[in-house]
Amino acid sequence: MSAGSGLPRLEGRDKVTGAARYAYEYPIEDCLYVWPVGATVASGTVTEVDATAALADPEVVAVVDHTNAPRLRPAVTADELVLQSPTVAYRGQVVAAVVATTLEAAREGAEQLLVRYVEHPHKAVLDPDDPDLEQPETTNAGFPGTSVKGDVDAALAAADVAVDHIYTTPPEHNNPMETVAIIARWDGERLLVHDSNQGPWAAATGYGMLWGIPADQVDVVTEHVGGGFGSKVWPTAGAVVATVAARVTGRPCKLMLTRQQMYTMAPARTATRSRIRLGARRDGTLTAIDHDALQYSSVIHEFVEQTGSATRTMYASDNLRIRHRLARLNLPTPRVMRAPGKTPGMFALESAMDELAYALGMDPLALRLRNEPPTEPATGLPFGGRHLVDCLRAGADKFGWASRDPTPAVRRRGRWLFGTGLASAVYPVYQQGGTATARASPDGTFDVSVAAVDIGTGARTALWQAVADALGVPPSRVSVHIGRSAFGQSSLAGGSAGTASWGGAVRKACFELGRRLAEHGGAVPVDGLEVTADTAADQLPPDHARHSYGAHFCAVRVDADTGQVRVDRLLGVFAHGHALNARTTHSQLLGGMVMGLSIALCEQTIVDPRLGLFVNHDLAQYHIATNADIRGLEAHSLEHTDDDVTLVGGKGIGELGIVGSAAAVANAVFHATGVRVRDLPITVERVRAR
Ligand code: MOS
Repeated sequence: MSAGSGLPRLEGRDKVTGAARYAYEYPIEDCLYVWPVGATVASGTVTEVDATAALADPEVVAVVDHTNAPRLRPAVTADELVLQSPTVAYRGQVVAAVVATTLEAAREGAEQLLVRYVEHPHKAVLDPDDPDLEQPETTNAGFPGTSVKGDVDAALAAADVAVDHIYTTPPEHNNPMETVAIIARWDGERLLVHDSNQGPWAAATGYGMLWGIPADQVDVVTEHVGGGFGSKVWPTAGAVVATVAARVTGRPCKLMLTRQQMYTMAPARTATRSRIRLGARRDGTLTAIDHDALQYSSVIHEFVEQTGSATRTMYASDNLRIRHRLARLNLPTPRVMRAPGKTPGMFALESAMDELAYALGMDPLALRLRNEPPTEPATGLPFGGRHLVDCLRAGADKFGWASRDPTPAVRRRGRWLFGTGLASAVYPVYQQGGTATARASPDGTFDVSVAAVDIGTGARTALWQAVADALGVPPSRVSVHIGRSAFGQSSLAGGSAGTASWGGAVRKACFELGRRLAEHGGAVPVDGLEVTADTAADQLPPDHARHSYGAHFCAVRVDADTGQVRVDRLLGVFAHGHALNARTTHSQLLGGMVMGLSIALCEQTIVDPRLGLFVNHDLAQYHIATNADIRGLEAHSLEHTDDDVTLVGGKGIGELGIVGSAAAVANAVFHATGVRVRDLPITVERVRAR
């Protein structure tokens, strides 16, 4: 058995020695450089793009704007329909691109462009009293925008104890180490791209939709990717510009977004404002849960973060109401970022549960145990494995929760106040059908190909192990090929579904290959044997509520004078079923927890409403937790089997670790200081505002 064991990642050495080739690094002859130009107004109309000065430079080959760009067709969001109209929906929207023989000339040409606008009024404030708020029918991932069970208002009025608070999270930006990058070439009606994305097949589909060609006419190569977190799920506005430039010039074109451009030309997370009302009996039994989520989308596309989705499944209550409302702002369409909906929603719900525990005089662990639901609260479905209580109990044990004195703001040594807090985690099980091909060669080696992508998760290594196990041969005889759309329809590295989906397809291909080999008496024919499998028909019926679970326990110290928060310890226990690779699984869980700590303490994109501007748009001013912020980090996996869960027996782990971790930090800050911070990030100003 190689699966489950912590084999080091296959490409690790290539990555640390610089041998691994990323999208921008392929040596393509005769390649031009593209510099996208963003709008300098938040709303308006482009009246003129004067390229005279730019085109005077002989190194500048073309300037593309809405007047000379080829027509694109609607695909995923309107943001990717670059250079199609003079209308500007947000500051930074692509209004032109300069194409040149050197990067420097492209950038200088962009400086030389004179773009003139008629400016229109804009709106960039998420305001609960906005008269134009929308009530979306559905959210991202297909949840209903509104769901109601029982009579929440009556139950709240009759509750022995109730809490009612508003929790906010700011816009947050995806900051993968490798920004969006692409080299695009046209060969007749075929589009060939080296592209940094979270799914080569999804990229081929997306580019194909935009250009009106079938996905199999788009050849996407994505060998290595330096992170995504959600920013590379579908073709981004930034990357599409390169395909346009290649079409216009008839030459290969390369583009890599700057960190600054990532803030408007690639997706980010909406701000959220969750009003949570909880009602309970004296013994802690919840009688009402109300989650009213306000967030924004752009004026050109409806994207609805599923902020209330975790509230649908966490705790038992006869009365449950979840609503989403949407403001339309002159900002880029927000899209997904690690654990969309669950991350901001669980900050709110798990903070409110802590507040309710204090209002009841009850231990926050006991409150959660008291409200364990027999079936999924919003849907009534039986759970396909529910392990929240196991995670909470195991975490409490490892952390030493039992000895905790709940009194806030009483543990002081010198200038430091100490406190602890906990929060639950949940993430749904997603799995997508797809194809994989397995080939046996007469020399005893095997090649398996699947249009998977390793965005840094260790997917390549996990699949290699899954293949070796399915074939019953040592991993050294197996080669796994990923990162090409030509390998067939396949899942994204998104929704924590990648490895489970690809793993299911490669296992099926390997089992079928094994059967075919057995028919040949075990001998491989001289020209080899190859089978392609498709798992489209093997998906689990929607008859159970399937989730992975976790519990975070956090210890902080807070400087009583400055309000600075240090996380001394963050311990997570997770139930995710079978792990294909224990080492990369552990890394994913730790990475999620670090990102949760980061959004708890640092991350926020600040909007200047006067300008409709993301003010901080680089890593100097958009702060991300670094090594110095991390100590005492522990992730533990609980042994359990939910064998019906995915075709590889496990559940996704890429996003679980971020969910709830910010609430654990905020709850610990309250315990340390007596200050309840309901607005992320937990800055020194907010801690000191008492
Ligand atoms: Mo993830 S936000 O599902 O790429």
